[in-house]
Amino acid sequence: MWYQTKASEILGIQYPILQGPFGGNLSSVRLVSTVSNAGGLGGYGAYTLSPQEIIVVDQQIKAATDKPYNINLWVSDTDTSDGSVSDEQFKQVQALFKPYFDELGIALPEKPAPFKSRFENQVEVILHQKPPVFSFMFGIPAADILEQCRRLGIITAGAATTLDEAIALESAGVDLIIASGFESGGHRPSFLAPAESSTTGTFVLVQLIKEKVKTPVIAAGGIANVKGVAAALALGADAVQIGTAFLATDESNATAIHRQMLFSDAAKDTTLSRAFTGRLGRGITSRIAKDLVNKEKGILPFPLQTQFMSHLRKAAIEQEKWDMILFWSGQIAPVLKYKKAGELMKSILEETTACFDRLKS
Ligand SMILES: Cc1cc2nc3c(=O)[nH]c(=O)nc-3n(C[C@H](O)[C@H](O)[C@H](O)COP(=O)(O)O)c2cc1C
Repeated sequence: MWYQTKASEILGIQYPILQGPFGGNLSSVRLVSTVSNAGGLGGYGAYTLSPQEIIVVDQQIKAATDKPYNINLWVSDTDTSDGSVSDEQFKQVQALFKPYFDELGIALPEKPAPFKSRFENQVEVILHQKPPVFSFMFGIPAADILEQCRRLGIITAGAATTLDEAIALESAGVDLIIASGFESGGHRPSFLAPAESSTTGTFVLVQLIKEKVKTPVIAAGGIANVKGVAAALALGADAVQIGTAFLATDESNATAIHRQMLFSDAAKDTTLSRAFTGRLGRGITSRIAKDLVNKEKGILPFPLQTQFMSHLRKAAIEQEKWDMILFWSGQIAPVLKYKKAGELMKSILEETTACFDRLKS
């Protein structure tokens, strides 16, 4: 059967369909458990959570499903050397964004407090809570962490945006490689070369990786229905990871307006921008995203830019100025149909089975 792949065997799931984890408070226990209970692998993006919050989320997921699930972290979670920026750099970002703060009638924020990486403490919790699957992006955890995962029976999956990154993940002994194509919503998780030069599309990336790497590959980016699933499997992928289509369902933690935007005409245009967080990410093109193209020199490193922009975002939401927000989305949004995660899963499973039955006959 189409769903009996190396990836579904390793992950202990019925169908090789992964719900992409969402960082930034967009994941939900309900979405994870809905997908896992339907035979796929639900995923929770936890990189912004404190260790204590991760424990609570993990306990809630364990109470909601007895099936495998995934918790996701960012290995590299800061681009600052000492967690801070110079006064000069901060003045530059204030000048760039002043017109937008003025438009919203709010004061420019103060310089953010220095940021300290959270990954080390977060990963301690992963090793303690032992989720069945631990996925990560923006790098590779240290060898001793991967070794402990192996010993504890935690399956590991790491994101690659290039063949070199996939080779590095395989050399480190990661169990599964997520081939993260250019079409994907959210951040480009590049870690060996700049994200701007790691822009291969999913279907080329899967083939490049399958040629050179033995580790099972999960295709991520631009997949939202039977066509994408069947095509990815035909190209040699061992599973697919679907993000934007699940983000748009009622079960995700996206706001109502975000979900509405994903189903709107506006979703036909997306932009890759560093201006909203300090790292390159894809969202629905808005007035502010267009204005900021080529002005990214003046922005702060990740995650200080996220903190700076959170003030603008909050006021824009309160005042319903949607053109001042970047709503995260992949390029595939215009084909989305389903508002319930269970219905999305059901349609993909039924239609993929019918598709492969047709091919056989
Ligand atoms: C809003 C948003 C947030 C995301 N956050 C994360 C994350 O924290 N960690 C991660 O590994 N992938 C993250 N992703 C990537 C997804 O898990 C998935 O790989 C991707 O969305 C697949 O591409 P698609 O959006 O075209 O379906 C995020 C995607 C979106 C849309």
